[in-house]
Parts: sequence; structure tokens; C-alpha cells
Amino acid sequence: MRFLSARRRHPAAKVLMLLFALVVVGGIYSVVSPADQVAADTGKSQQIAEGKALFAVGCASCHGLQGEGQVSGTIQGPPLIGVGAAAVDFQVGTGRMPMAQPGQQAPRKKNLYTDEEIAALAAYVASLGPGPDIPAEEDYNPEGLSDEDLARGGELFRTNCSACHNFAGSGGALPNGKYAPTLEGVSNRHLYEAMQTGPQQMPVFPDRALTPEEKRQIIGYLNHLNSQPNAGGFTLGGLGPVSEGFWAWVVGLGVLIAFTVWITAKGARAK
Ligand code: HEC
Ligand code: HEC
Repeated sequence: MRFLSARRRHPAAKVLMLLFALVVVGGIYSVVSPADQVAADTGKSQQIAEGKALFAVGCASCHGLQGEGQVSGTIQGPPLIGVGAAAVDFQVGTGRMPMAQPGQQAPRKKNLYTDEEIAALAAYVASLGPGPDIPAEEDYNPEGLSDEDLARGGELFRTNCSACHNFAGSGGALPNGKYAPTLEGVSNRHLYEAMQTGPQQMPVFPDRALTPEEKRQIIGYLNHLNSQPNAGGFTLGGLGPVSEGFWAWVVGLGVLIAFTVWITAKGARAK
């Protein structure tokens, strides 16, 4: 049995192996993980630099090179320090910015930037000062809301939004030639961001006014509203049951009169 004992390892071998493994793992970790961190940081600062360059070309003429704003002269824009990434994502994503010309209102129009460019612009503006972040998908996706949640969303909508946007969300006029636009066809993300940032005449609804869950309920309600087929077959701009009832009355009566005339004519012929 000399053969076997010769192959027996030194008692310290196991400990050495373990130490070696620890050193290797630790080494790999120390090489890989800070590198990842550095890569993430450079990715972020690169995105901010890209955003800054885009901003200088497309936005600075009104908002100033550092987003400090321009509040005198013919071309004006408010300061953007602290408006947050959500405001940029909303304003640029809905084509409101860059504003074509100074005017009464910044209307929704064709968006000029790619998603990456919008993300870069948003990152740059967010780097100027803390503000609301772009919401995550689970914040605004109304999937899984119960009927009760949707009813609550309807209630919240009627209390907080319908004064300007109308009960059917189809928009309405405001003083001084301004208006609140229709909410039909607005993406869930932009719905959420509008509440977060309050564009123009619209109030901001911070989380203490409407919790994230309540915002999601409103979004669910609006999705539900927009997916409803038109019950009566008449599009009356959602003017309400009164005018729809009126039309039912007029049309129904019209049919009745036509039928009476037809019967009378038949009766006259039969005589
Ligand atoms: C022609 C001038 C002009 C240009 C160019 C312009 N803006 Fe604006 N921007 C404005 C004005 C004016 C407002 C304020 C609108 C209002 O409230 O009536 C505004 C508002 C905003 C807001 C909303 C601020 C808030 O308080 O929520 C953001 C965000 C914004 N702009 C981002 C941008 C970005 C990003 C660009 C470039 C892609 C840009 N703007 C280009 C004039 C401009
Ligand atoms: C005081 C009036 C007012 C109230 C209250 C109000 N809004 Fe608005 N809303 C506006 C105006 C004005 C605009 C247009 C701003 C612009 O064009 O930049 C707007 C724009 C929007 C938009 C952008 C639509 C688009 O076409 O991109 C959304 C979404 C929106 N509102 C949702 C809401 C919701 C949800 C509520 C309730 C929680 C609400 N608003 C409450 C006045 C109001």
C-alpha cells in the first residue's frame, strides 16, 4: 500500500486549493465589477453629452445653453432646471417641443426626434437639477385593474380633469383662446407624464395629490372610455344623454311620421 500513501496529498493542499480559488474569484470580481461600474458611468455621461449637443442645436435658442431659460427678448422659453426627464419625454415625445414659433399654446405635432435622442435630451435636462423621472412601464400600464379600480378612476377623472378636458375626455375651450386637448389616442406614458408635469395651463398632480396608483386608475378609465364602441351609432362628441335622447326622439318620430304617411297613402289607394 506504499503506492496509495505516496499519492496522498499534503494536509495543507486542501487549504491551499481553497485559498487559490478564493483569490481567483476575488480577482475576477475586482476586475469585472468596477469595470462594469465605469462602463455604466461612461454610458450615462456619454448620453448626457449627446443630449447636451442636441439641446444646443434644437432647444438652446429659447431655453439657454444650460437650460437657464430666456425670459426677455423676442424668443423666450422658461428655465428647465428641475423640470425633470419626464417633462422632456412628454414635451418632445408629443412633438410640442421644439416649439415651432412662440404662440398662445404649444400644440401636439409630429415628433422630430428618435427615442434615443429624446432619452439623451431627457438625461441632459435631468442632469441640470432633480425633477420627476420618466415613469416605468408598471407605473402607467393599467393591465390588471379591477372594475372597481376603473370606477374609481372615472370618479377621479370627473373630479380632477373633466372641468378642462370634458366628461368624455374630448377636450374643451379655456379662457384667452387656449384649450385643453382631447385625450383620445394619447399614449399611457404621456398621460402619466402630463399629470406629473402639468404642461402649460394644466395643474401639476404630484404624488401627494394623486398617488401613482390613482394616476394608473385614471389611465385605466381613459383606456376603457376610448375602447367603448359608440352605443347609439351617432357621434355627437359625447355631448351626453340629453342630446342623444333628443336625436332618438327626432329620428324615432321621423320614422313614425313616415310610416303613418305610408299607411295613409296605402289606405287611400285601397279605397
Ligand atoms: C421657439 C422656442 C422654443 C424652442 C426651440 C424649444 N422650446 Fe421648450 N418651451 C418653449 C416655451 C415658450 C415653453 C413654455 C410653454 C408654455 O408653457 O406655454 C417651453 C416649455 C418646455 C418644457 C416644459 C417645461 C415645464 O415647466 O414643464 C420643456 C421640458 C421644454 N420646453 C423642452 C424643450 C426641449 C427639450 C427643446 C428642444 C428639443 C425645446 N424645449 C425647444 C419654447 C421653446
Ligand atoms: C385647468 C385645466 C386642466 C385640468 C384640470 C387638467 N388639464 Fe390636462 N391639459 C390642459 C391643457 C391646457 C393642456 C394642453 C397643454 C399643452 O398643449 O401644452 C393639457 C394637456 C393634457 C394632456 C396632453 C394631451 C396631448 O395631446 O398630448 C394630457 C394627457 C392631459 N392633459 C391629461 C389630464 C388629466 C389626466 C387630468 C386630470 C388628472 C388633467 N389633464 C387635468 C388643461 C387641464
